[in-house]
Amino acid sequence: MIKNPEEIKKMRIAGKLAAEVLEMITPLVKPGISTGKLDKICHDFIVNKQNAIPANVGYRGYEKTICSSLNQVVCHGIPDFQRALKDGDILNIDVTVIRDGWHGDTSKMFLVGKTQPHNKRLVRVTQECLYKGIEEVRPGAYLGDIGYAIQNHAEKNYYSVVEDYCGHGIGKVYHEDPQVLHYGNPGTGLELKKGMCFTIEPMINLGTKFTKALKDGWTVETKDGRNSAQWEHTIVVTETGYEVLTKRSEENF
Ligand code: MF3
Ligand code: CO
Ligand code: CO
Repeated sequence: MIKNPEEIKKMRIAGKLAAEVLEMITPLVKPGISTGKLDKICHDFIVNKQNAIPANVGYRGYEKTICSSLNQVVCHGIPDFQRALKDGDILNIDVTVIRDGWHGDTSKMFLVGKTQPHNKRLVRVTQECLYKGIEEVRPGAYLGDIGYAIQNHAEKNYYSVVEDYCGHGIGKVYHEDPQVLHYGNPGTGLELKKGMCFTIEPMINLGTKFTKALKDGWTVETKDGRNSAQWEHTIVVTETGYEVLTKRSEENF
């Protein structure tokens, strides 16, 4: 579970590549484009420009490069060519790349066209939840500190935290121990140690926390049909705190 400095170097490279996919796709997320098209562009960028591997392709039978989760979709939305993005949509794009055997996993939200204030607020508060979780990361802290920070901020804003999916350890294996819950109590759970790598990826709902899986075997929606947002970073625990391996240039940590 603990990575040495050589391994962290490789995680840093994979994380940077994943972040660059989101940076590349950002200006293209506009009303009129389909998620299928966005997926194809990300795929070709990873394979041809980055000389990397799209980790989702073939993962447990998944066939696409990105997950594209629109509006009431909580996570694992499958890109398709049927529907064009439209004004007012909120969209999560989640991408994982493999370079040299190591994984970088990250996602961000997109506000498509003109966004209603309640959706804007959900997306902003969810990003704040991610950042508040990240701020807890340091040797000697506990996974429960991260979960508590996220849950506290979400619930203060009258939102709910999805409990059915969580963050995860990451390295040569895409999803490995530990599970990183987005709720919990301070001082509980695993104690963090320098060199641990994991994702934090809170899914926050406007309504209740409950989810339902669709018959396609992947798409997860809110049970009540209200919107959901998610942001994700891959983090490593450092001597004094954390490093965000999937940081984009628009972000300051
Ligand atoms: N990237 C997702 C995560 O954050 C997992 C997607 S698995 C897929 O862990 F198969 F749906 F792509
Ligand atoms: Co992800
Ligand atoms: Co993840």
